[in-house]
Parts: sequence; C-alpha cells; structure tokens
Amino acid sequence: MLLPLRKLFTIALLLATPGINAQKAKAPAAPKPWMDTSLSPDQRADLVLAQLTLAEKIQLVHGIGWGPLRAGESVPADNNGGAGEVVGIPRLGIPSLQQADSAVGVRMAAPQSRYATLLPSVLGAAASWDSEAAHLYGDVIGRELRAQGYNQSIGGGVNLARDPRNGRLFEYPGEDPLLAGVTVGHVIQGVQANGVMGDIKHFALNDQETGRTVVDVHMPHKAARESDLLAFEIGIRIGQPASVMCSYNKVDGDWACENEWLLSHVLKQDWKYPGFVVSDWEATHTTVKAALAGLDMQMPGDEHFGKPLEQAVTSGQVPMARLDNMVHRLLRSMFAAGVIDRPPTPRTVVDPFRGRDDAQHIAEESIVLLKNNGTLPLNPQNLHSIAVIGAHADRGIMSGGGSAQVDAPGGNALDPSRPSKWGEPVYFPSAPLRYIREHVPDATVRFDPGTDPASAARLAKSADVAIVFADQYMSEGGDAPTLSLPNNQDALIRAVAAANPHTVVILITGNPVSMPWVNQVAGILEAWYPGIAGGQAIANLLFGSVNPSGKLPITFAKSEADLPHARIFGMSYQIANGGLPEHWISENKRESFPANYTEGVRFGYKWFDSEDKEPLFAFGYGLSYTTYSYTGLKVNAAGHAVTFTLTNTGKRDGTEISQVYVQLPLASGENFRRLAGWQRVSLKAGENKTVTITLEPLAFASFSEQKDAWQWLDGEYVVSVGGSSRSRPLERKTSLR
Ligand code: NOJ
Repeated sequence: MLLPLRKLFTIALLLATPGINAQKAKAPAAPKPWMDTSLSPDQRADLVLAQLTLAEKIQLVHGIGWGPLRAGESVPADNNGGAGEVVGIPRLGIPSLQQADSAVGVRMAAPQSRYATLLPSVLGAAASWDSEAAHLYGDVIGRELRAQGYNQSIGGGVNLARDPRNGRLFEYPGEDPLLAGVTVGHVIQGVQANGVMGDIKHFALNDQETGRTVVDVHMPHKAARESDLLAFEIGIRIGQPASVMCSYNKVDGDWACENEWLLSHVLKQDWKYPGFVVSDWEATHTTVKAALAGLDMQMPGDEHFGKPLEQAVTSGQVPMARLDNMVHRLLRSMFAAGVIDRPPTPRTVVDPFRGRDDAQHIAEESIVLLKNNGTLPLNPQNLHSIAVIGAHADRGIMSGGGSAQVDAPGGNALDPSRPSKWGEPVYFPSAPLRYIREHVPDATVRFDPGTDPASAARLAKSADVAIVFADQYMSEGGDAPTLSLPNNQDALIRAVAAANPHTVVILITGNPVSMPWVNQVAGILEAWYPGIAGGQAIANLLFGSVNPSGKLPITFAKSEADLPHARIFGMSYQIANGGLPEHWISENKRESFPANYTEGVRFGYKWFDSEDKEPLFAFGYGLSYTTYSYTGLKVNAAGHAVTFTLTNTGKRDGTEISQVYVQLPLASGENFRRLAGWQRVSLKAGENKTVTITLEPLAFASFSEQKDAWQWLDGEYVVSVGGSSRSRPLERKTSLR
C-alpha cells in the first residue's frame, strides 16, 4: 500500500531524530508494579525483592562511609558527601541511600559548598517541653537534608542522661524516658514529614563516651525496659523512624549490634518494629552472629555484610529468608518515607533566614532561667553601662562537636581561616554582645574577654550590670571528668560577682555544671548551645522581649559526690599531668571493662528524690518573669487524666510548663515519682485556665521480667501536679486503674 507523501515524510523525520530513534531501538521499559502507590510499603518492598539477585541483596545491606577508603573501594559517582551511602539499584528505580549525620543540623555541608542551620542542642529542645518545637526541629533538618540531596538522617539520639558528664548529652533529650521519647519522636516526625528517612540511636544503653566501643553495660532487664529502652519505645511509637542505629557498647557481654535480646526480642518481636537496624559506624563485629541477632545493615564497610554474608547465605549459615528480611526492611522504610516516590532534588537552595528564625524560636523556648533576684529582665531605661564578659561573646557562640558538628557559615567565628578539627570548639557568628547592644542603644556596653578575672572585675565594677558568659565544650568520644566549668571560669564568675552585685551569668554548656558561686550572683540563664540565633535569643530573654519558659530536662547536681557514681566507669582520671583533668577528655580504651549501672532506673531526679538529696536545680525547674498558681486538682482515674486550674498571678504574659508526677503503689518498692505527663500553657497576666493533661500509661507501668510484659500494679498511686519535680502543690491518691 502506498503511503501518502506527508506520512512518509513524518516517518523519515522521526527516524532521523536521534532521541526518538534511540528510544525506538530500546526494549520497552519493564513494568514496575512496585511503583503503584496504592500498595502498602510492605507489598511494594516484596515486589522489588522478588526481582533482586543475591549480589544485589548483598549490595543493599552494606555501604561506604566517611573515613579513609579501604583498598579496592571507590566513591560511587552519585555520592553526596555524607557519613554513609548504600548504592541503589537503578535498573529497578531504587535510589542510593544518602545518609547524613544531622543531630543538631546537617553535618559536613561546607565541604560541598552548602549551608546548614545550626539548631540549639537537642537537650535545649527538650527543655522547651514542646512537641511542636520538636517537630519544627526535625522539619528544619529534614528540609535542609532534602535540599542537599540526602534521603536519610542518621540523627535521632535518645540515650538518656544517666550520667550528667556524658560528652554527647547536647545531642540527647535529657534524663526522663517520657520527655526524651516524646521529644525525639516528634523530631523524627518532623524529619520524615519532608520525605526524608529518619533514624533513632544509639540502641542501646550507650550512656557514656568513655570506652564507648568496649564498655560492657550490665543492668537488669526490668530497669532497662523502664528507663533507656522506654525512651526508645516511646520515640519509635511516635516517630516511626526508618531505621534504628545500634550502638558501640556491649550489653551483658554481647555487642549491641549483635545482641539478640535487644535487636530481635525487644525491638522486632516485642515492639514489632518494621524498619531496619543499621550499625553505628564500624560497630559491626561479626557476620553470622550479627545477621542472626537482627542487624540489617553494616555501615560502613563490607568485611562482614559483603562477601562473608554472601558466603554465609550460600552455605546456609544465614538463611536466605533472613537476608530477604534485611532487604525487605530497608525497602519498606524507603517506600514508607517516600524517598522512592519523591526523591530529594539536590541543589535546591537552603533558606538560611527561615532556618535562623526557626532556630531562634526553639532557642527562646529552650533557655532556662535558673535564678533571678529581680535584676532580670534588664530595663534599658535604668541602664547606662553594661559589662559583657567572657566566652568570646564579642565574636560568636559555641557549638557542640563530634559527628553533631555543623559547619559555621564563613568558618569558625574565632578564626575563619582555621579549618575545623575534631575536638576543637567551633563558634557561630551570633555574637551576644552585638544583640545586647541593640537592646540598649543609649548605654555604654564594654567587653572583657574574661581571661584575667581581675581585669574583668575592674570592668564589672564600673558598670551598672555585669553579664558573664561561661562556656563548656563537649563532643562525641569523651566525657567531662567533673561537673565543673573548665578554664578557671568559676574563679572569673566569683571575681565579677564580688565586684558587682548585679551580675548575671549566662551558661553556654553541653551539660549541667556545678555552680560554687550560685549564692553570689543575681541571675543565671542556662542557654545550652543555643544555635545560629543564640545571641539574639539570649538578648531577648535578658531584656524581657521574650519571657523565659524553658524548664530543666535534666537535674543539676551540686557536686559529683551526689551522683549515683562519683566517677565515670573506665575513666582513669590520670590524664592531665597525673591530676584530675577539668575538661572534656577522650579515653579510647581497647580492653573491655564492665559498667554496672546498679542505680537502674534511679538516676537524675529519681536518684535525688529517692536518696533525699538536695539538687542544685531540680528536674522540671525553671523560672519566668511572671508567677503561677495551681488549684483544684481532679483526677479521672479511669481516663488516666488530671484536671486543675492554672492562674498567671503576675504582671506579664507567660507560658508555664505544668507537670504531672506519679508515685507507684507500695508494692513497687519505689520511693520516687515518675513524670507521667505535662502541658505548656500560655496565659495572659492575671488569666486562668482549666488544664487537662492525659497521662502516658507506660510512665506508671511496671515491667515484669517474669511475664516479660508491662503490668499495672494494684493499689494506691500518688498523683501530684506542679511547676517542677520538686514543686508540686497539688496531690491526690488514686487507683489509676
Ligand atoms: C559515630 C556516632 O556514634 C554516630 O552517632 C554517627 O552517626 C556515626 N559515627 C556516623 O558519623
């Protein structure tokens, strides 16, 4: 049949067009039934799994990561520069996993010429007791990861502050399992709301950095379930993270990353966790044992989950079903988080201004007013001169180190030309001095570096008010041997306070610190590491543009002698000139040593309450520029809820964090209370509100080792309500059944 000329011409044109020609030559694209979004993540994962070769399955359970490349390893072409990458399966449309450390913001941005927002410490976010702020925290991280081309956060630290000297406390949400679990759960939700996979870590009982890769932690299962594991249980329930990172330490003789009880029994069977377990970096020790115990991914490296795992599967030492389960868990997490349907689009511009505003909001809710004799808020009308002293407050604000280190825009504010080094503090360009000056344009504001207490005292004496900044650098890989501020800063504060009765101390610390000068100063603010907008946030609280609302998520002890363990397990205390070092120290040990956490659940406020010790500042404590009163408690025992009236009795609007504590029946043998619920309540001056708080049932449950299950004891529970763990004006006895 003769074709009309026009049609012939069109065909000739089509054949001459290279793209179309090539397309025609290609086999038609294979159908990808797993891209049907009406199927569940599990169904979709199984459809992919059925297509994978053994080699491809092995490829998906290990990857490459930071550190020197091993012989024969090369960086994949699509590598995004993060802590880890697991190469995907392009033929099936499965992208590579691009993992980034992002505890307090996205790490390693600068080497890729990118920007990342530094958020306040996670401990600070916990001090806001605000789930929305925690969600926003995760949202900033998820949003910026996405813009930078990452599809997984490996943040989500929730190890409890069992020891207040732990070097990573600024990455963790405090000492209470409920507050910590709720905080991290909402952070993870915020990350994953951006179509980026979240993570929770370090599973589990990784509560000290000293000897972290060898320490062998012992604790009865009951205590573990009611403390550290409860934080994970709640965090996982709320956040549903794509992965759980197992930790470096041993638990009862087995490495956490090959601990059958932790990974299979508790996490996967009991909690029915559907995602995958990824090892902390280089925390995989074996192939068969780890695979059978429940580890799903070795990171980074292939010496266990590369060829050796392939051989173990071929020889039947590890059943194919187990390998399939590892891969299934990864794929179902990828589908659930949306990283296959909505992959991140790298090189989108991060919005630094939005990040800064969000960081400032969180910082303003997180800073805790610990003491105020009436000096605060500062009134610009009455101030002619201010002395600002110490902690490089003229240049910037300190950040926490280790794998949580975020790169400062423009480099370290103290010396931009100096490359940032592990173990050395990085300051961010949010100089408090500048923002203090903005509040008092007509006053004289002078700065003294604080290195010579006598010179600082001279400046303080000449000023109406002295504001002393004190900081404490903390980082992964080491702990603080003591609770003291380093670098002679206690002496500095004493000298300044002796020279000026209106001395206010601002603490920029990773951890709680002791305060031998507490009775000499007029005011104290704990600002944690307050992030990229820390300077503005501090100034806003000092001058009352923001009324403080943060409350301590961790107990401040007067001295180490009051802690469950006066010394940290495994720390030699012989490092600096044979004496006691005062600063963060890294002690990497080779020999395993035991850590018997005999205090069990009794650490933090539970320790101080049960031992009847007076803390320096109690868990849940924090002042405001207004005052509140609590009246009219009613307990709805069956509904596990309490109702009361909260009144703002002062002259300023404010936000109170009302807390509910429960003491278990006598049969529990417990002589302390547990936090069981709270609410942030905003009240205008003079206003009152009826507040109802629903309690978390696991907070007043008891774990029975015999039944291997939670149970609720019969008997009388004491429910009390107030503004801190030590101030609970309302109390009722009830059955709570
Ligand atoms: C080791 C740290 O413990 C972990 O938190 C981090 O995610 C990895 N290194 C990767 O940097």
